[in-house]
Amino acid sequence: MRILITGIAGFIGSNLAVRLIKENLKKEIGNRFEVIGIDNLSYGLKENVPEGVEFRQLDIRDKNIYEFFYGVDVVFHLAAKNCINDCQLDPVETADINVTGTVNVFEAAKRAKVRKVVYAESSALYEGTDVFPTPEAEIKPESFYSVSKLSSLYFAKAYQTFYDSLFTSLRYFCVYGPVQDYRRTIPPVMSAFIIKLLKGERPIIYGTGKKRRDFVYVDDVNDFHIKCINDPRTDNKTFNLGSGKNYSILQIFELVSELLGKRIEPIFKPDLPVEAEGTLADITEAKKLEWEPKTDIKTGLFKAIEYIKKEIEAGRA
Ligand SMILES: NC(=O)c1ccc[n+]([C@@H]2O[C@H](COP(=O)([O-])OP(=O)(O)OC[C@H]3O[C@@H](n4cnc5c(N)ncnc54)[C@H](O)[C@@H]3O)[C@@H](O)[C@H]2O)c1
Repeated sequence: MRILITGIAGFIGSNLAVRLIKENLKKEIGNRFEVIGIDNLSYGLKENVPEGVEFRQLDIRDKNIYEFFYGVDVVFHLAAKNCINDCQLDPVETADINVTGTVNVFEAAKRAKVRKVVYAESSALYEGTDVFPTPEAEIKPESFYSVSKLSSLYFAKAYQTFYDSLFTSLRYFCVYGPVQDYRRTIPPVMSAFIIKLLKGERPIIYGTGKKRRDFVYVDDVNDFHIKCINDPRTDNKTFNLGSGKNYSILQIFELVSELLGKRIEPIFKPDLPVEAEGTLADITEAKKLEWEPKTDIKTGLFKAIEYIKKEIEAGRA
């Protein structure tokens, strides 16, 4: 089975590629996966792409991607401009990558008669909600990022209606684990704390630290990705992928400090304006398909810490 991943050099894409290659080693599974990956390396790193992947450095907005979709069974479309704050600063580029780029990927898949496209939406679609845990129907986007993500849902529906294409849309909550980017100006919160504490610097907390987030470990998300490849119950549906539990940013700070055995007083900075007050996934729909998040937060955080430690040891961080 040939699987194409856009955004393969990023956090979730590279973890998925590693997982698919590992699945090939299992005897009981009938599939063998050939993995092809596309990324323009704007955020991701070539080193993240595992051995055994056919890699193409291309932009998802480029029509030159089309030829690589022929012979592909399933596409995972993960490439995006995805930092909420960066998207607020540049709505035009946000729409260009997340809307036009996404439609270009859907079009490439349609032309090549790809069986199915699994694509990334986001829990940011629930930014304006006060319903917790939040079910899939509770869409209330506010930021440019979330609006751009919502548009993929409508384009997917149109392709479904006019071309019988199959889609699965995944609303990731805060996915964490090894390879999460710790380099960007405002990194995802766990990586941000880990890198600062490991370097003996003061971590930054935006706002009071009381906002709560639903964190889900990347391997658990990959369990669901694998399901999307073959399970027809995922066809043309949307699923929340979270853990169904949430933690405040202060709790995460304490957990990281505890696991590292190192506490440095954080710096409190003004809140980031577009960050939702809280997130908490209603994962009933995903659980109906015998999925459930298995990784507890300490185990997952420990693995994320090990990754960043190795990056520092290798002189990359
Ligand atoms: N990580 C999370 O917690 C989370 C939560 C909700 C949604 N998502 C969504 O999941 C997907 C994957 O997220 P991630 O955390 O792996 O992000 P990431 O930034 O680590 O990876 C995205 C990859 O896309 C690539 N890319 C960006 N623009 C591109 C373009 N125009 N052409 C080709 N490649 C391009 C980047 O170089 C990067 O390697 C994204 O769509 C994101 O919006 C992630």
